[in-house]
Amino acid sequence: MPIREAAPGDWPRIWPFWHRIVAAGETYSWDRDTTEAEARELWAGTGRQVYVAEEGGVILGSASLKANYGGPASGIANAAFMVDPEHTGRGTGRRLAEHVLAEARALGFRGMVFNAVVETNPAVALWTSLGFTVLGTVPEAFDHPRRGPVGLHIMYRAL
Ligand SMILES: CC(C)(COP(=O)(O)OP(=O)(O)OC[C@H]1O[C@@H](n2cnc3c(N)ncnc32)[C@H](O)[C@@H]1OP(=O)(O)O)[C@@H](O)C(=O)NCCC(=O)NCCS
Repeated sequence: MPIREAAPGDWPRIWPFWHRIVAAGETYSWDRDTTEAEARELWAGTGRQVYVAEEGGVILGSASLKANYGGPASGIANAAFMVDPEHTGRGTGRRLAEHVLAEARALGFRGMVFNAVVETNPAVALWTSLGFTVLGTVPEAFDHPRRGPVGLHIMYRAL
């Protein structure tokens, strides 16, 4: 499955699953009713590198890579990942993550931080298998629609 940098024309095919994932309110700390324009800025605005995994003309998932901090700390990256719920469980998330880790390294980042990983998200196991560790957990920070208040992990790995 080819992974490439996103082109501006890809956004209309990212937005439907971006919206579905954020509106579900289970994995991201963004407003569930984030508008399309706000979403595009969050995902593909200034300073972000966007990638897509595409198969047969279908965008299966996307990743957004940026510096996590500014100034003297701008060598630490942050990335976010979404795979269309219609296409999860087929290895797309892992391949996107491996690609983005390599890209971040090539861009000169020294480490990557995830600021707010919902502790109940099965993705925690994926990140751990890719070398991330939990630096700490903000207790009961995330109001999960089915589980109630759950913690948010800060996860890190060196590149
Ligand atoms: C997390 C996400 C990107 C994973 O994408 P994916 O294409 O389903 O992941 P993969 O098929 O590559 O699976 C990767 C591993 O994670 C596990 N996994 C991923 N999602 C899972 C889920 N919902 N339930 C159980 N296991 C899951 C798989 O078992 C797999 O393990 P393996 O590689 O050892 O077999 C995708 O589920 C998603 O977009 N979720 C909603 C948004 C989100 O949570 N993003 C991450 C925020 S921290």
